[in-house]
Amino acid sequence: MINLDQIALSYKTAHASVDVLQGLNLSVTAGEHVAIIGPSGSGKTSLLLVLTGLEEPDSGAVSIDGVSLEGLDADARADIRRERVGIVFQSFHLIPSLTAEENVALPLDIAGMRGGRQRAVEMLNRVGLANRHSHYPSQLSGGEQQRVAIARALVHQPRLLVADEPTGNLDEHTGETIMQLLFDLESESDTTLVLVTHDTELAQRCDRTLRLQDGALHEANS
Ligand SMILES: Nc1ncnc2c1ncn2[C@@H]1O[C@H](COP(=O)(O)OP(=O)(O)OP(=O)(O)O)[C@@H](O)[C@H]1O
Ligand SMILES: [Mg+2]
Repeated sequence: MINLDQIALSYKTAHASVDVLQGLNLSVTAGEHVAIIGPSGSGKTSLLLVLTGLEEPDSGAVSIDGVSLEGLDADARADIRRERVGIVFQSFHLIPSLTAEENVALPLDIAGMRGGRQRAVEMLNRVGLANRHSHYPSQLSGGEQQRVAIARALVHQPRLLVADEPTGNLDEHTGETIMQLLFDLESESDTTLVLVTHDTELAQRCDRTLRLQDGALHEANS
């Protein structure tokens, strides 16, 4: 499902260059749930950006669902995300001027899919927001916003779901509920999951845990 081969990524700023990923390899089979842990600044978010084609590595090969991202332009990479990938960020990333329903329907609207509104309504009901469809993100609690983000990430039934500390901005109880929801929705399909988390309990619910350290992934025996 995912193949990363010898990925190198560094960020260049005016004053310095930071080597973040250095010869990183990752192979995830379809349906597998992989947790990625590692200290702050180790490059976990960068890794997710690379594997979803949002960031181009300096070198190395990326393929998602059998499609190599090499040589694809930004539009072609966006097409692949739209068709096959759902992403949940730590800080929700909802569009403030759109209602909950419009946010969830957006991936389907962009894809020009008919019946998108109906799907969005169903997804919002599934995440427990039946009575919040016309609320704007600013009118929703953090946990509710993350539910909307999860509904949006799953509305087009992606083959790959990528989540970057999806409970990081939530209190423990809300975080617990959100993760349960994510695993429940996920288990209904054979979606592949890559989950960045600092929560070792959460990591243990995945098939495998990998630790990002010194720019590469290592088996974590937690
Ligand atoms: N756009 C950028 N320009 C320059 N440096 C960056 C950029 N984005 C990230 N970095 C640096 O790259 C390193 C890795 O960042 P990244 O966000 O991937 O870490 P992380 O493991 O996700 O951390 P956290 O757990 O705090 O979210 C950090 O040292 C960060 O300062
Ligand atoms: Mg991060």
